[in-house]
Amino acid sequence: MKVVVIGAGYVGLITALGLARLGRYSVCVEKDPARLAALRRGEVFFHEPGLSELLAEVRLNRRFEATDDLDAALDGVDVVLIAVGTPSNAAGGIDLSDVRNVAADVGARLARADRYVVVAVKSTVVPGSTDGAMREELERASSLRLGQFGLAVAPEFLREGSAVADFLDPDRIVIGASDVRAAEVMVRLFDGFSCPVLRTTLRNAEMIKYASNALLACLISFSNEVTRICERIDGLDEETVMRGLHLDRRFWVGGTQRMAPPLMAYLRGGVGYGGSCFPKDVRALEVLERSLGLEPHLLAAVRAINENRAAEVIDLLERCLRRPVAGLRIALLGLAFKPKRGRSFVYAATGTSTPIGPEAEWNDSWNDERAEPDRELRSLRK
Ligand SMILES: NC(=O)c1ccc[n+]([C@@H]2O[C@H](COP(=O)([O-])OP(=O)(O)OC[C@H]3O[C@@H](n4cnc5c(N)ncnc54)[C@H](O)[C@@H]3O)[C@@H](O)[C@H]2O)c1
Repeated sequence: MKVVVIGAGYVGLITALGLARLGRYSVCVEKDPARLAALRRGEVFFHEPGLSELLAEVRLNRRFEATDDLDAALDGVDVVLIAVGTPSNAAGGIDLSDVRNVAADVGARLARADRYVVVAVKSTVVPGSTDGAMREELERASSLRLGQFGLAVAPEFLREGSAVADFLDPDRIVIGASDVRAAEVMVRLFDGFSCPVLRTTLRNAEMIKYASNALLACLISFSNEVTRICERIDGLDEETVMRGLHLDRRFWVGGTQRMAPPLMAYLRGGVGYGGSCFPKDVRALEVLERSLGLEPHLLAAVRAINENRAAEVIDLLERCLRRPVAGLRIALLGLAFKPKRGRSFVYAATGTSTPIGPEAEWNDSWNDERAEPDRELRSLRK
């Protein structure tokens, strides 16, 4: 089975390499020359545990190829996976331009295909995008009708920092499909995993991704709401309060030998959520809800709590120091997005509304797991 993944970004590259490991012949189409050149040299351009080893393995087995030649890539393809970015637009919704452009490019070549092809969306898109904008572009550019090609949605749930392991050992596979024929091709594409496979409609699959991220964001903002109350009342200690909450038997699995589900990590006070997905996805869902004439009470609150959190942390610091932070040189430790991550997301901590935003210096080497904290701290004393 041949799969073409369009967009060798975070999601696309891991998906393409993971599918190659599963035995598919996998081609990644990437338009960024630097990313493409790196892949052709056998190098990855972002850090994820196990990623460079996986690239080396599938290159050795000749199961993976990276290219910018869409025509050649689509020759003999069974499934096209679209994994390009869907950033926020000015109104907070998602910008589907890249998805639309790719759909038009693929559509223009679909008419020449010698077989039934399924075009699937891996990018995060709001419900209705795949059988709306995507379908329109594909049908217009190919002069085919849905049914002559298949449509699918295969949302990605990998966690940064353990993305390769998550891909190879997923908790779920969600497949939304336009019809049974398309669903069956997608089930074959992901055949080989032992996790539950949920087969559903295109729109349900799109919504499952948003509902999943919104739930996690809700837990984080709930924890921060509790935390800000604790910070304001003498004698309250947020960590103890949350520890007490965690002991509720409904949060535990494993009977007498209690084991905490990983979800508990989201029930702790902190500086708020950041990263490339939660802020964007919560906002997009909020905008979608508003467009339906509904008031997104909960999602708006989740976002507001998160956006205020950085200023509250600064306020707490100023109250502890009994002076403004302006003019102080402050070491902020633990701002890396996640342990063992090469990328640093400081969205919540250095948002423009916070006093430290414009003056903050960011030394990315501190996020290197090999960095020596003592040495870094010593350099701060200058
Ligand atoms: N990053 C995550 O953890 C994560 C997790 C789940 C879902 N998602 C979703 O997956 C999607 C992709 O996210 P990402 O972080 O991988 O994005 P990214 O920006 O890292 O990668 C997108 C890639 O697509 C390439 N591209 C764009 N247009 C192209 C075209 N016409 N032809 C070839 N290549 C093209 C870009 O050059 C880039 O390399 C988004 O919708 C995102 O919301 C991301």
